[in-house]
Amino acid sequence: MDENVIVGIEGFEDAGVYKVTDEIALVQTVDFFTPVVDDPYWFGQIAAANALSDIYAMGAVPKTALNLVCFSPTKFDIAILKEIIRGGADKMREAGVSLLGGHSVDDDEIKYGLAVTGIVHPDKVLLNEGARPWDILVLTKPLGTGIMNTAIKGKLLNDHAATGLATVMATLNRTAAEAMLSVNVHACTDVTGFGLAGHLKEMIRESLGVELHAGKLPYFGEAVEFATSGLVPGGLYRNRDFYREHVVTTRSDFFFDIIFDPQTSGGLLMALDPADRAKFEETATRLGVDYHIIGTFLAEPKGKILLR
Ligand code: CO
Ligand code: CO
Repeated sequence: MDENVIVGIEGFEDAGVYKVTDEIALVQTVDFFTPVVDDPYWFGQIAAANALSDIYAMGAVPKTALNLVCFSPTKFDIAILKEIIRGGADKMREAGVSLLGGHSVDDDEIKYGLAVTGIVHPDKVLLNEGARPWDILVLTKPLGTGIMNTAIKGKLLNDHAATGLATVMATLNRTAAEAMLSVNVHACTDVTGFGLAGHLKEMIRESLGVELHAGKLPYFGEAVEFATSGLVPGGLYRNRDFYREHVVTTRSDFFFDIIFDPQTSGGLLMALDPADRAKFEETATRLGVDYHIIGTFLAEPKGKILLR
């Protein structure tokens, strides 16, 4: 491996990092998926926000992107594709990202996303690991998008709730990252397919513990009813099977569902220096970031997530 590779494929990091000079490192990631909502314009925005998120999770600034498109013009109206691309372009504009090109493949199943390149100072790369005991754990964006998307597929979500959900998924993690970078942050990732528990496990590995306060967890209110009636995505059960041995709890209620719910375009999960709590809260509030202090990192028990 080239010595300038700072983050490669061996870890579980959000993006790869390559040092170009002593001042600049490239941060690269790619993500694309099938539609999570019916409206193509919303889908384009969500797919772009999701792809950009891994750049923010590395403490980097996204600069350029390439469109990745799978679409069959014989099976679907080309106007659908135009709306998807327009959604993506609007998010890239909002993020200050230049679209440099892309590639499309004829495919009966629609897929869209981005390959994104960002920049960061080589010494300021934020990894998943690096949290310290007594760091505060902050989450931006509510949990439950997996459960809510399952409800959409079952036509059980009303228009108002569906728009609220799409708005959250399409929200860039840009201002959340800005608030985070204004203070001493030790580690960061974004919550996606492995759910809160899975991504937290990537932060603590076997070197730290973390205490989660169920009462502080943000979530979509509608998700409670769906989860209670068993309407949850298969990925939630897969995550629970995989990560439950690392979770210590006496709970068997909704919170034991929501921490395993796979997220689409979820929020940032940050380990912040406790001394900077007030400064972070002030900045996040000023920037309009929906943040929640959901727990604390601990020296012990190592490798465990304590859900209280
Ligand atoms: Co990620
Ligand atoms: Co990714």
